[in-house]
Parts: sequence; C-alpha cells; structure tokens
Amino acid sequence: MHNDIASVLHHETTILSRLDAIARDIMRDYDGKPLTVVAILQGGLILMADLLRRVQLPLLIETITVSSYHGGTESSGTVTFLQTRLPDINGRHVILLDDILDSGRTLHAIREKLTTECRPASIRICVLLRKRKQRACAVEADYTGFDIDDEFVVGYGLDYQGRYRNLPYIGVLKPEAIHS
Ligand code: IMP
Ligand code: MG
Repeated sequence: MHNDIASVLHHETTILSRLDAIARDIMRDYDGKPLTVVAILQGGLILMADLLRRVQLPLLIETITVSSYHGGTESSGTVTFLQTRLPDINGRHVILLDDILDSGRTLHAIREKLTTECRPASIRICVLLRKRKQRACAVEADYTGFDIDDEFVVGYGLDYQGRYRNLPYIGVLKPEAIHS
C-alpha cells in the first residue's frame, strides 16, 4: 500500500466486480438505443476504460474536461469548462461518467450545459462513488458503484493535487499527506 494511504476502502477486485454489475444494467437499459458515453476528465478516465470494456453494446465515447477543485479538498463551487468544443450528442442517449458525486455542482453544471446546448435524447449519470451527504444541487446518480462516507478519498481516477489517480484501489489519505 502507498505510504500516504491510511486505509483502503475498496480493493481493485471489488471495484471490477461492481463494474461487471453496472455494465449489465447499462446493457439492459440501452440495448437498441444510440448511446454516447461522455466521460468527465480527468477523474472519470480509469472508470471509463474499465467500465466501457465490459459494456457489449455499440456505443460512442466522448470526453469533456472540467475543473472544479482548485487544489484543495473542498470543491470551489465554480465549474470551469477547459475546452470550447462540446461533444456531438444531438439526438443521442447519453451517460455522463464521473469518478464521484460529492456536492453535485460539477455534474449538475455539465448536465445543464449539455441539455441546453447539445440537444441529447436523454442524459443519465454514472459515478463510481457517491458521498453520503446533502447535495448542493438537484442531481442524483442513476448508476452508482459504491456509497461512501463524507471523507476525502483518492485512487482509481481520484486525485489530491493531481496525484494518486493511478492507484488501483480507493483509499483514504493520511491527514499528514494533506497540505492546506
Ligand atoms: P462536486 O462538484 O462537489 O460533486 O465534486 C465533484 C468533483 O470533485 C469530482 O469530479 C472529483 O473530481 C472531485 N472530488 C469530490 N470529492 C472528492 C474526493 O473525495 N477525492 C478526490 N476528488 C474529489
Ligand atoms: Mg477531480
């Protein structure tokens, strides 16, 4: 285990078998529909690769890059779109893929922007993790890997100041690894 990790919440094997189940749900729900999965970078990158290889459906992949944290462990409240081109999803059924649903601001802002500017047939949300807390925005996940307590986690795509995304498990950072 990495030196900065206090404890592991979910090991790789547990995550991957959970992804098997989510992939089955997605195949059941989108069979025969034009599906585009929009992954939110950077956090959704690992989930995108592992989940979508389990979904045996014809689908398209798009990505959007946003920034909502500006270095700390609390989301800043503003969501910055780091690209000008929006995904081509006109008339398509869309699943937004992200690492975690926390305050909900990020996914809410992205869903609103895509709904108003890109005219998709539908939008659903899939996240690996969902924090047990009150959301700041009206948004919920349609597919969820795991519900977790309201603590700061890293690994499997989730970062602290850009680090730890490549850990194959989800872990809680030691307090001494967090620099305020
Ligand atoms: P929200 O807008 O508050 O829902 O935050 C969503 C974004 O904040 C996610 O896409 C993550 O990038 C980041 N985030 C939220 N909680 C954590 C965490 O515990 N660890 C790492 N990143 C997090
Ligand atoms: Mg992030």
